[in-house]
Amino acid sequence: MINREEAHTILREYLTKPSLQEHCLATALVMEKIAQRIGADLDEYYITGYLHDIDLDIIGDDMNIHAQRGVEILKHYDIPKQILDAILAHNRHKELETKLEKALWIADPVNGLVIASALMRPDKSISSMNLKSLKKKFKSKNFAAGVSRQQIEDCCLLDFTLDEFLQLAMDALAPHEKELGLGVMTSSE
Ligand SMILES: [Fe+2]
Repeated sequence: MINREEAHTILREYLTKPSLQEHCLATALVMEKIAQRIGADLDEYYITGYLHDIDLDIIGDDMNIHAQRGVEILKHYDIPKQILDAILAHNRHKELETKLEKALWIADPVNGLVIASALMRPDKSISSMNLKSLKKKFKSKNFAAGVSRQQIEDCCLLDFTLDEFLQLAMDALAPHEKELGLGVMTSSE
């Protein structure tokens, strides 16, 4: 199997937008934290999260082929089938069966919610955010409306409560917020 460094190189070849690269990193970090909690393989979960959106630049607006194109690209590398299956499942090209598939399904939306919430804060930081403020954003349907609350609530598929899972996502991302373009004070604030 490819290692993390190789995954980083492959992704940057196909996905050039910094915001998308950050989303991939954030997904990888949440996946790694889930793996820690459930006793799964850290590298496998990290790499699945990191590569899941590799085709977003090349598919244009055709979200129907999203993930299928990604898997076509990734087939050429030494990447196990269970990772490719998880990537297919995250855009509903496959039923959710394995823990890895369920983990990617829930890690994908939750990092968007955490990052969007941090961006609303004066210090743009996850570190100063707590579960209560994140839950408020979760319940506010108009906030980051593209983030599926239902999909986040599917954290129950891996036996996480919603509170546990939101906290897990913050814990995963906070130490890396600089790499995610967060925690930067702006002069107007
Ligand atoms: Fe994604």
